[in-house]
Amino acid sequence: MTNLLHAPGFLGTSANFAADMTLLLSILVMGLFSIGFYLARKGRYDAHKWVQTSGAAMNIVLVLWLMLLPYRDFILRDSGGPREGSFYLVTSIHAGVGFLAFILGNFVVLRGHRLVPRKLQFNNYKLFMRTAYGLYLVTTLLGISTYYTWFVATSKPPVF
Ligand code: HEM
Repeated sequence: MTNLLHAPGFLGTSANFAADMTLLLSILVMGLFSIGFYLARKGRYDAHKWVQTSGAAMNIVLVLWLMLLPYRDFILRDSGGPREGSFYLVTSIHAGVGFLAFILGNFVVLRGHRLVPRKLQFNNYKLFMRTAYGLYLVTTLLGISTYYTWFVATSKPPVF
């Protein structure tokens, strides 16, 4: 399994299998959130709830398993660097917006399952959920830019 993750990727860039898989799964999660959005518009709130809960859970796995370690190694520890300024800038903006999406998105899911204290139980679902959806969307677009910066544009692609 570890060997497969570190094997060359399948998208024809300098990325390994893990990075290509992360990109595709991130786009898939955004697709799930968009289906969930559509279900809410149609008033199918129970289906909406479970689709969005699945998307948020998959996002947690992707961030904790496949994004945090490369961030630590190639941004915080600058392993194999220094690289172009855009490498650090694009990744840091992606991580910053992604952090907000992660916190708000998971908070919204916990609220939806009534797992937050009464004081934090907002009722303006549309405002909170549209904001969470927008943040996930921007984060995904920034994630695609990050992939491009790391494995296509940079002169020293990270190897892991
Ligand atoms: C357990 C989790 C969730 C529950 C129980 C839930 C429930 C609801 C409900 C009841 C509404 C309708 C609000 C209204 O019409 O006033 C709604 C709308 C919405 N939800 Fe969720 N939701 C959950 C998770 C999420 C997540 C994680 C996202 C974002 C990724 C999200 C995105 C949206 C959006 C964008 C709308 C607005 C749709 C519109 O414009 O009509 N939801 N949700």
